[in-house]
Order: sequence, then structure tokens, then C-alpha cells
Amino acid sequence: MSGKMHGKVAVITGGSGILCAPMARELARLGAKVAILGRGEDKAKKVAADIVAAGGRAIGLSCDVLNRESVVRAAAAVQNELGPCDILINGAGGNDPRGTTSQETLRPADLETKDEALRTFFNMPIEGFDYVMRLNFMGTFIPSQIFAAQMIGRPGATIINISSMSAYAPITKVPAYSAAKAAVSNFTQWLAVHMADVGIRVNAIAPGFFLTEQNRTLLTNPDGSLTPRAEKVIAHTPMRRFGNPEELLGTLVWLADENVSGFVTGIVVPVDGGFMAYAGV
Ligand SMILES: NC(=O)c1ccc[n+]([C@@H]2O[C@H](COP(=O)([O-])OP(=O)(O)OC[C@H]3O[C@@H](n4cnc5c(N)ncnc54)[C@H](O)[C@@H]3O)[C@@H](O)[C@H]2O)c1
Repeated sequence: MSGKMHGKVAVITGGSGILCAPMARELARLGAKVAILGRGEDKAKKVAADIVAAGGRAIGLSCDVLNRESVVRAAAAVQNELGPCDILINGAGGNDPRGTTSQETLRPADLETKDEALRTFFNMPIEGFDYVMRLNFMGTFIPSQIFAAQMIGRPGATIINISSMSAYAPITKVPAYSAAKAAVSNFTQWLAVHMADVGIRVNAIAPGFFLTEQNRTLLTNPDGSLTPRAEKVIAHTPMRRFGNPEELLGTLVWLADENVSGFVTGIVVPVDGGFMAYAGV
């Protein structure tokens, strides 16, 4: 396919996920050669096969973003099969119940309870917190370290991280996810400064709330109605709805295309239906 991304190699971690598979398809539609890196090889290969069937160029690779050797192997495969990386999208990430509290706030009665299923700050397993921190932060750091080495000297090279609303003010119940996304936003700024002299731009997108498989049971009841938590989200979103994954694509293509964003580096762009702008009253 020819298009404004023609000749570029784009690597997308978590590229078989709900938000990032549409990103992979869009970059391929615009002419990029796309590598989809996923924990599950089958899902990554399926997204790649769909792109190829639509006339694009794509490969799907199994890669664990928390395992440096696995990322090194994937980077070598990308370089061999498509060429050096021009655009890296660090999309792998997410939350885990082990890094989540049961209640928004700690109540005095929670300290007395014998209910072992009630997860408070005090009985949150350190391994659970650590896993979510590592997945979102080290899962961005490690691929950046490895793929940026391929990008040096390539005109228009760029890294796009995926942050979250929870980076600005932490979201209740998800302390590990919130801290990790704050670290992703902070690292986006640090890396942008560090890489400015070698010509790699580094930015992030902070999506608002999107309904995905990961959060579907938190946000919707089996009959499709909204849970109380989802109603709170919608009440705090001036546009009064969840986002659609396609609504991230304009920001993605803008940040990825040096012809239109060549002087933009070190920023985090909220795509959130007004969530950030709204004080709630
Ligand atoms: N859905 C939302 O509302 C929302 C909002 C803000 C930010 N985000 C962020 O967007 C990104 C994409 O999330 P999504 O909602 O599409 O979820 P998703 O679960 O559909 O996608 C996440 C992808 O990451 C992959 N992944 C997980 N661990 C991995 C590992 N160790 N190595 C390689 N890949 C791994 C998963 O297999 C999956 O394909 C995440 O960083 C998420 O935190 C999502």
C-alpha cells in the first residue's frame, strides 16, 4: 500500500489488543510495514494476517515485553524481515486484580474483617503490585531501550507511549496501574529530552475510558447496563460516553508523521471526551 507512512517500519507492542490492533491496521493502511508484538503469537499473527489480506505488509511475533531477551529476539526478527524500526508504539500494558483494592477508601471496619477476599492496602500482595508496575513501566522501558537503538539516524524516528487518565490523578482501587502510568508519562518527557540530539521524538497518548475486554466486567453488567463505577466514569466525562478505539487514530497518525508533528516531542496528549477538563461540578 502507498500512503504517508510508506517505507516506514512500525512496531506495536500489545498490537493485538483492543486499542492497538486498530493502530496497527491504520499504520498499515497508510503504507507502513507493521510488526505486531504480542504475548500470544496466535493473536499477533491473526492481526498480521488480516492486514496482509487487506493488501498491507505485516508480521506477527510472540514477545514478552518484560523479558529483555524476548524483546531482543523480536527486534532481530523485525530488522531481518522488515528492516530497522522507525516507529515504536508501546501499547502493551493493563491492570491486574492483584494490584487492585476492593474498596475505593479504607473503612475502619475493613481493618477488623475476617473476609480474606477483601483486598485493602494492607493485604495487597507486593508481587501483584510489582507485576502491574513492571508490565506498564518496564514493559515500556525495555522495548524503548532495544528498539531506539535501531532508530538512531533514521529520519522521523519516533516512540509513542500509551499513558492513561490515571497518570494525572490516580484512579481509585488501582494504585499500581496509576503509579505505573504516571511513570510512563514522566519517562516520556525524560526520554524525549535524552533523545532530542539523535533525532528521536518521544510522545504519549493518554486515552480516557474505552470499553475493552479487560475492563468490560468492571464497567458493564451481564445485561449490558453500566455498573456504578462506569456510571461514575460517564458522569465525569462531559461527552457522556466511552471512547471508540478508532478515536485514537488521528492523534496517533499526527504524532507518528514527522511532516506534521516534527517539532512535537515530550508531550502526553489526552483523548478523553473532556474527562481531564472537568472538575466534576
Ligand atoms: N482501555 C482503556 O480504557 C485504556 C485507557 C487508558 C490506557 N489504556 C492502555 O492502553 C493500552 C492497551 O490496552 P487495551 O485496553 O487495548 O487492553 P488489551 O488487554 O486489549 O491490550 C493489551 C495488550 O497487551 C498485551 N500484553 C500484556 N502483557 C504483555 C507482555 N508481558 N508482553 C507483551 N504483550 C503483553 C496483551 O496481550 C494485549 O494484547 C494499555 O497500555 C492500557 O493500559 C487503556
